[in-house]
Amino acid sequence: MSNLTLSTRAQSIGDSPTLKINALARALKKEGKPLIHLGVGEPAFPAPQAAVDAIIAKAQTRNIKYVPSSGTPELKAAVARYTETYYGRKVSADQIIISAGAKQVLYNFLLVTLNAGDEVIFPAPYWVSYPEMIKLAGGKPVVVRPAHGLQITLPELTAAITPRTKAIILNSPNNPSGQIFEADFVKGLVELAEQKNIFLFMDDIYNQLIFDGNKCPNPYDFCTDSQNLVIANGVSKLYGMTGLRIGWAVSENRSLISAMGRMQAQSTSCNCDLSEVAATAALLGDQRCVKDLRDLLYTNREALLAELSKIPHIGVHKPQGTFYCFADFSYYNADSQALAQYLLEKALVAVVPGSAFGMEGYLRMSFCASKDQIVEGVQRIAKALKNLSVKED
Ligand SMILES: Cc1ncc(COP(=O)(O)O)c(C=O)c1O
Repeated sequence: MSNLTLSTRAQSIGDSPTLKINALARALKKEGKPLIHLGVGEPAFPAPQAAVDAIIAKAQTRNIKYVPSSGTPELKAAVARYTETYYGRKVSADQIIISAGAKQVLYNFLLVTLNAGDEVIFPAPYWVSYPEMIKLAGGKPVVVRPAHGLQITLPELTAAITPRTKAIILNSPNNPSGQIFEADFVKGLVELAEQKNIFLFMDDIYNQLIFDGNKCPNPYDFCTDSQNLVIANGVSKLYGMTGLRIGWAVSENRSLISAMGRMQAQSTSCNCDLSEVAATAALLGDQRCVKDLRDLLYTNREALLAELSKIPHIGVHKPQGTFYCFADFSYYNADSQALAQYLLEKALVAVVPGSAFGMEGYLRMSFCASKDQIVEGVQRIAKALKNLSVKED
């Protein structure tokens, strides 16, 4: 047998479906096709000036070195301030880890908590990376699907708990649905996790990008013992700084944070020095940029909803946050991958099939693009669907 075979781990990991659509869309664009991309997961918004200035100033010192593996004291202090401002919780440096995005935060968390076969529960629709990351860490993904609508209920989630359940992941507001889980649900979840001694990983990456005066329930409000609670966040969505790769986790559980730090130290040593400086400046700088981003996304969402309302037979849930709308297109084709492919080819509009998020029949449209592109994109989708239904009638 050849020793050049790849590991079973490598063979078990699929391509990211969102990246696949992006690659196809890029290829069409390269051919000069007038593609409209409603598949992206990053705001076109420029990075805050304070972050850019901080990178330039730091680069000019020519002192770009390794930094402390779990994050610089300056960035940890900025994250502590963020946590106190938005969660009303005082945390110290040893309760914070800074990683290369919320993605690495989650991966570190899974690597230090899961033994082979341990189960991690999360609701559908879910962020595409959860199942693959859990599998990579040796765990077993357990998806809970809502019987109705886009949000699971507490009894549905409770029914999925087994003696092997190690953690629950909740992403609210949710990618792809844009829905915020209500306070009663979050309260019940926090209590359930405490009662059953299960980690609760809150993926709060979108929690500042919410509309209509909505509020994200604060899990700390419902805790009696927060040893099992981990809250992740980052600068990617908040400041449109996806390329800097900075995220963080906060937990009262110091041994968990310390283990995540050791995991990181042995894999990547530390984060990029310049990125940490930029994230610190963004967090400590003028926060009007966040409001501006939220306002822009609100305008885009309204434009998207107005156009979608003209398409018959689709089911639209108004996004309460994030920059995604997840709509039911099953009337036109229950196979979301085939429908997304059709729209890419016939309408030159890129969207992400619901199957990637564990919900067939839906499509995710992002409203990060410009308002004009969003309007034209949905108009093209409407036209292509009309042709489809005419052909099939
Ligand atoms: C739900 C969710 N969690 C985490 C991430 C990862 O964010 P980061 O860029 O901080 O790694 C994303 C990015 O798309 C996301 O949608």
